[in-house]
Amino acid sequence: MVSKEIKGILFDAYGTLFDIASIDPRLEQLCGEKAPAVAELWRRKQLEYSWLRTLMVRYVDFYDLTRDALSYALETFGLEVSSADKQALMQEYYRLKAFPDVREALGLLKGKYHLAILSNANPSLLERATSFNGLDEILDDYISADELQLYKPVPAIYQLPEKKLRLAPWNLLFVSANTWDVAGAAACGLQVAWVKRQEAIPEKLGLKPDVIVKDLLQLARLILK
Ligand code: 2OP
Repeated sequence: MVSKEIKGILFDAYGTLFDIASIDPRLEQLCGEKAPAVAELWRRKQLEYSWLRTLMVRYVDFYDLTRDALSYALETFGLEVSSADKQALMQEYYRLKAFPDVREALGLLKGKYHLAILSNANPSLLERATSFNGLDEILDDYISADELQLYKPVPAIYQLPEKKLRLAPWNLLFVSANTWDVAGAAACGLQVAWVKRQEAIPEKLGLKPDVIVKDLLQLARLILK
């Protein structure tokens, strides 16, 4: 259960606020029946590249590594896609749809807590996707891993909000649908909510979320109770 000491709420971006599946129709046009497999590999490689680049100390921003992950996925399935089409797919990252519960939930929390995104995405990705969904008027801040040129789950990224907002970790609630991210934030002493948008089990890393919810509306109602 989350405590009453929360002053700031930090949201992961992809899978938590923004639905990556909104790219699927465009992917289907280009990849046909291979689209679901390409989508799955694209996302997996995107995460792997963020972790590998952090371990290798070879930072490129999240847009660029997402494009590289797309190239890897397309080539794996033998798909030849023009650079214009690849570019168009990447542009979809600026227009990802927010999950249906997001706007109302953030609206309920606005003004009562400092609301920020804490994401591996670089600022331009975050700014464009939030303004596309009209969330820029609700959120108070974006905190991007780009600032340190490292990626979550490196502890320094989860510690950025404490420094920026001058709040103790237990005053911060981190909200993510990604199990690896839940574990990363819990390891840094933040309060953590796991938004279980799809069937999954927790990582076997010895770290647990403080609360599990099905969506952000359920979380907002729980906090405001
Ligand atoms: C994030 O937004 C990649 O979902 C991850 O940080």
